[in-house]
Order: sequence, then structure tokens, then C-alpha cells
Amino acid sequence: MANPSLLILAGDGIGPEVMDEVKKVISWMGTARGIHFDVSEDLVGGCAYDAHGTPLTDATMAKAQEVDAVLLGAVGGPKYDKLDFSVKPERGLLRLRKEMDLFSNLRPAQCFDALADFSSLKRDVVAGLDIMIVRELTSGVYFGEPRGIFKEGNERVGINTQRYTESEIARVAKSAFELARRRGNKVCSMEKANVMESGILWRDVVTEVHQRDYQDVELSHMYADAGAMQLTRWPKQFDVIVTDNLFGDLLSDLAAMLTGSLGMLPSASLGAPMANGRPKAMYEPVHGSAPDIAGQGKANPIACILSFAMALRYSFDLGDEATRVEQAVEKVLADGLRTADLLGPEGGSPIGTAAMGDAIIAALNASV
Ligand code: IPM
Ligand code: MG
Repeated sequence: MANPSLLILAGDGIGPEVMDEVKKVISWMGTARGIHFDVSEDLVGGCAYDAHGTPLTDATMAKAQEVDAVLLGAVGGPKYDKLDFSVKPERGLLRLRKEMDLFSNLRPAQCFDALADFSSLKRDVVAGLDIMIVRELTSGVYFGEPRGIFKEGNERVGINTQRYTESEIARVAKSAFELARRRGNKVCSMEKANVMESGILWRDVVTEVHQRDYQDVELSHMYADAGAMQLTRWPKQFDVIVTDNLFGDLLSDLAAMLTGSLGMLPSASLGAPMANGRPKAMYEPVHGSAPDIAGQGKANPIACILSFAMALRYSFDLGDEATRVEQAVEKVLADGLRTADLLGPEGGSPIGTAAMGDAIIAALNASV
């Protein structure tokens, strides 16, 4: 059987630096575990614009559709701020999500014990935290029409549209319920049904899917603003949170900070199963391209490495190997190794991106 295929799109800013450390883990899987991948690489975001005048070429898009999983670093940077909206680096990422139809975005927020003191919240609020945000990723206000900046009388008006169909809500709700069954068996759905019709529909459809197929899972509903408040008050009340594209964007950044650093959070974006039974999939860290520290070798590669661990689990049925990578990360943190983003107010001496990757490889070596 052919090796599973990976397309690496490292992107901009710290993307290539953190992805270099992921490549070490990919090679390690081959040499130490006999798990080999066919890896190809291409451009996305600002670097693709520099090379081709577009943040994602049709050829790269076609490649992404063919592989078993895409690993993405980060896109964007101040250099591209003035570009026309249609060719901004982010458009490349959004095109991948949309055309691969990656409707279910899994964003776990887990607080590693060694980092519980780094959260801006008290230790007992975050220690042991393990929640999963399921963000709808292919619809809502990110893609709804009409959109644009129009002239109305003698002034301009900016328009975006929140739009959800029943089937779009149902499929992401289903993926949240399925996930909950393998975790704490609880789903909290968040919307703004108090002010938005799309929120009313969201709540109705989630309730219908629950009634029909998932009555064994505990379901609750919350307005998204109250959800944000509850996430900071007592996040451990949650297991799986399912929410729309925009609320999911906001709530996942919030949840990330509960864990101490945005540099720690992986994500998986999953679509429908392909002919080989694997879901269409892209894996990326939740953090961005961090232009302020790009090229300096000090970025934290852990979010990107944990994203590869998610690929092992969700695309390749290698949950044990995923756990092995996660435990290696935990070990390195418990040993006190820290990239700059993980230093508390008391300081300390940080290690760089490559040293963090090497330490994780050493921990992996010790695990076999
Ligand atoms: C994210 C990011 C993206 C988003 C940007 C880079 C387009 O913030 O993945 O959370 O808004 O979805
Ligand atoms: Mg975001």
C-alpha cells in the first residue's frame, strides 16, 4: 500500500520555522516507528502572492484536494496589509477551507499541568482543563452573500451576511455529538438566538439532531456572550462547545489563553470522508504568523507539532502515536523547557524553536 500523503503549506512569518520542527517529528515517525509519509511542499499566503500574484494557485488547490492531509503553518504579515482584499494572504487559507469543505474545525484547549501558572486565570480554574471547541468553518459571516463595501446615498456601507442552512448546522452538530461520545459526553451549543434569526435556526437544528440521534449526549445551549463569560469564570464546566464560524473564532482565542499561550494550541479542520474513508483534512496551529518574532528562531513550535499529532489521530487512525507525541510535549514542559512565549513574569532563559523541536525528539526517543 502507498504511504499516506501530506502536503505541507508552511506559509508566512513563523510558519516555516515551526514547520521545520514538525518535519523532524514526521521523519522520526519514519525512522523510529516505521510510519512513512509521502511529503510534498507548496506555497500559501503572502509567499504565494510574492511568487505567483495569488495567495493560492489553482495547482496548489488541486494538490490539497488530492492528498490525505494538509499541514498548514500560518499566513499573513504587515507586508501584505495594503493588498487588495481579494489577494490578501488570508484568502488563500479561506479558499482551502471552503473548497475542501472542511466544515468541522476542532480546537482543543488543554492546560498542561506545567503551564497552569502561566494562564492569566488562577491555577485551580485552569489546571486539568480539557475542552474542545467545534467551530463551523465553511459558512456563516465569513462567506455569506451579499458582502462588500457599497455606496448608499452619499456614504459607504460595509455589508457581511450571517447565513446558515439547516444542513450546514446539522452536519457540524453531528460531528460535535460524535466527538462528545468519545470524551465527556456533553455538548454546549452557543449562538445569539436572542438577537439573530440564524441563531434561532441554529438552536432548533442542534436540538433536532440531538432529539433524533444523540439523546444519550447531554446538550445545553448558551448565548455566545454568556458563553465567553462562563469560559473565563469556570471553563471546566464544558466538554465540547459547538458554535458558528465567527463566534468560534473569538471563543477559541479566548479558550487558548486559558491554557497559558496561543503557542500551544493545535487544530484540525475536517470535512466529509474521501473515497479511502479518511476525512478531507487540514491541520494548523491556532496561532498566526507572528510577524514581530518571525525569522528569529524563537517561536514556539508546539502548536504546530500538536497539530501533526491531531493528523495522526484523526486522519491516520494512529491515536497511540498521537498520544506519544502529546506525552513528549508534556515531558519537555515538565522538564522546565520554555520558549519565550511560555516564560512567566519571573522570566528565566528561553530556548529557541529548533531546541524545542530537538527536545521533543529526544523525549520521543526516550519513549520507545
Ligand atoms: C483563525 C484565524 C483565521 C480566521 C484568519 C487568519 C483568517 O484567525 O484560524 O482563527 O479568522 O479564521
Ligand atoms: Mg482566529
